[in-house]
Amino acid sequence: MISSYVVSLSNKSSLFLNGSRRLHLLNKNAYINGQWVSAGSKAVFPVINPADDKVITEVPDMEAADAKTAVDAASSAFKTWKNTTAKERSNILRKWFDVCAKNTDYLAQIITAESGKPLAESKGEIAYGNSFLEWFADTARHINGEVVPSPWPNKMIMLTRQPLGVVSVITPWNFPFAMITRKVGALMAAGCTCVIKPAEDTPLTALAAAQLAEEAGVPKGVINVVTSSRKNAPAIGKVLCEDPNVGCISFTGSTHVGKILYGMASKGIKRVSLELGGNAPFIVFPSADIEHAAEHAMLAKFRNNGQACVGANRFLIHKDVFEAFVQAFKKRIAKGCVLGPGTKEGVTCGPLINTEQSKKVAGLVEDAISKGAKALIGGKPALDIGSKFYESTILTDVKPEMKIYAEEIFGPVAVCHMFETEQEVVTIANSTRSGLGSYVFTKDLGQAFRMSRQLDFGMVAINDGILSAAEPAFGGIKESGIGREGSKHGVEEYTDIKYTLFSALDK
Ligand code: SIN
Repeated sequence: MISSYVVSLSNKSSLFLNGSRRLHLLNKNAYINGQWVSAGSKAVFPVINPADDKVITEVPDMEAADAKTAVDAASSAFKTWKNTTAKERSNILRKWFDVCAKNTDYLAQIITAESGKPLAESKGEIAYGNSFLEWFADTARHINGEVVPSPWPNKMIMLTRQPLGVVSVITPWNFPFAMITRKVGALMAAGCTCVIKPAEDTPLTALAAAQLAEEAGVPKGVINVVTSSRKNAPAIGKVLCEDPNVGCISFTGSTHVGKILYGMASKGIKRVSLELGGNAPFIVFPSADIEHAAEHAMLAKFRNNGQACVGANRFLIHKDVFEAFVQAFKKRIAKGCVLGPGTKEGVTCGPLINTEQSKKVAGLVEDAISKGAKALIGGKPALDIGSKFYESTILTDVKPEMKIYAEEIFGPVAVCHMFETEQEVVTIANSTRSGLGSYVFTKDLGQAFRMSRQLDFGMVAINDGILSAAEPAFGGIKESGIGREGSKHGVEEYTDIKYTLFSALDK
């Protein structure tokens, strides 16, 4: 393993993969208070490329004490950052946006190396993630207060927005850049500082983003990055949720972990912003343009190879168009889903992120097929390519007794069900504790409005397979989370409203 890569001794290293490809922006140390640091214990853990199972590099395996140091640094930086002007914060965010845009190719190589995403998709993620920095650079200057008409003579009521303080930012591996910028852009605009704990599978993108933030002039302590393996994550999470200097926990990830963090945050009555799992329905009515629906099914299902909280999880297709839809979808999968390492030209579907995820997807499909489900295409791991590749799959004849019926798959498997009436499909779609994204294909305008109202989801896309952008409010209801990201509301998550009463104005 070691012979296949060489890491230079400096922190801001270049990495030679198999003696040829060089990764810029590769950091081997964590980032606390403007310093590139190792773990207090000096322990490290390997970051693995899921396409070939090789070690990319090692990063610090930090512990609770390192997290505490990072929170203290963010807390100290908050004392000055909160007093910067909105214009200063906006300018710094704009510079961060500029350097990230300039370094798109390098950032994309890092994302592909550690997450397995095809390079084109990684570049897409940089554009998407960077749009949050651009958006919040603008939004920073519009965090306005209110003067409210007073019920009393000679008194004035003023409401202002105050930054919450230190935000603990805990981010997932599926969008390792965009989930950081969506949170950190917003909290910095509001005047907060942060400690980022990236997923153990993808710490390198977070460190590269921090390096570019430093280049852009983000003052020391405003952004800190603490890296750790799975083993140390619970202890670090506890500090990030319970330290009295933390004002808010912003997490994107599974509902299971979200509930644990929410429980810890409740002890200190901390604010939370939680973007958790989804179980998105993708509904196709008879009036829909079926080719268009199938095209968008590709986007809703195979973006990041199905590893997205907003990914379509249940395809609910009207019986009159079921056959036409699944055939059009199958044709597109056969042509459009090209499995392979993300660095290979023409590849559209990379590996799954890790062994756990690969086993989960394979297990769900095996269970369904053993109980009578049919694979119209795919249906098994693609072990000839690598240990974590899975064929792009359509399953039909799925029944409630199969595990895949109710679970969030988080992989390249499209489960297609048939329905007969509008009322029936609304009931099926809403029969979940999740409520993040949903997709509806119809040309009937009245039906589109009814779906928007009746679907119990935070987001409803009509005739589209992609919802994400910086401008709309992204978020879920029920067990899919609390709070909104992006839009003008994304900043509000990181502020408190302060009410000041000016009295005795006639004295
Ligand atoms: C997610 O689904 O995990 C987030 C994806 C997005 O922001 O579009």
